[in-house]
Amino acid sequence: MRIDVITLFPEFIDSCAGIGVVGRAQERGLLQVSTCNPRDFATDNHRTVDGRPFGGGPGMLMTIDPLRDALASTQAQAAQPGRVVYMSPQGARLSQEKVEEFARLDRLILLCGRYEGVDERVLENLVDEEISIGDYVLSGGELAAAVVIDAVGRLQEGALNDAQSAEQDSFTGGLLDCPHYTRPVEDEFGKVPEVLMSGDHAMIRRWRRKQALGRTWLRRPDLLARVELDDEARTLLEEFRREYRAVK
Ligand code: ADE
Repeated sequence: MRIDVITLFPEFIDSCAGIGVVGRAQERGLLQVSTCNPRDFATDNHRTVDGRPFGGGPGMLMTIDPLRDALASTQAQAAQPGRVVYMSPQGARLSQEKVEEFARLDRLILLCGRYEGVDERVLENLVDEEISIGDYVLSGGELAAAVVIDAVGRLQEGALNDAQSAEQDSFTGGLLDCPHYTRPVEDEFGKVPEVLMSGDHAMIRRWRRKQALGRTWLRRPDLLARVELDDEARTLLEEFRREYRAVK
């Protein structure tokens, strides 16, 4: 997969995309992250990429021409066109489902705004969709693009050392993840649940599913309302609720 980022701060994206799982995916040739700076397409001596908003108001907007030329140059770098996504608090909220959809594409182009945003005509004519990473305002789209690159990059086949770890992620299947424990078995903070050391894989799977259901019920009832529960899940959740109420 190839992800292009149109940004006034390419060094930000380069540093994020070079480390950890995403860096390794790039080294393994599973993912290519490239940047394009609209400032390189400005035509005046000051390399201007912003303008005052018509109608007045605070701040500046990114102008059309450098963005249009940066996008055209980026699109021309590969045979098939990439989906153009503008990172913006006005966008649809990013979800694991959307991340999985992006991860199936061959190409993705992330457009990062700065200042007060971009001229609306860029969004109407050059952008396929707008994505927000949450209901708060960042000073630019780069952090949001880095979030997309990380979430999408780790899903590329072969990026994670253990393919099962993506299948067991939080949100995969619509639930939060269960708790995890490692050594030591016991210390001043408590003991690892007995079942995890039993070697009984059926019991361990059941315990993990019950914890995932229970946590989702406690912390994110909105998610739980959207998943279809089979008979086992309903039983496990009922067990969890009963045990939870007994200790509360
Ligand atoms: N740019 C500024 N704020 C943003 C947000 N919340 N999500 C995505 N892009 C942004």
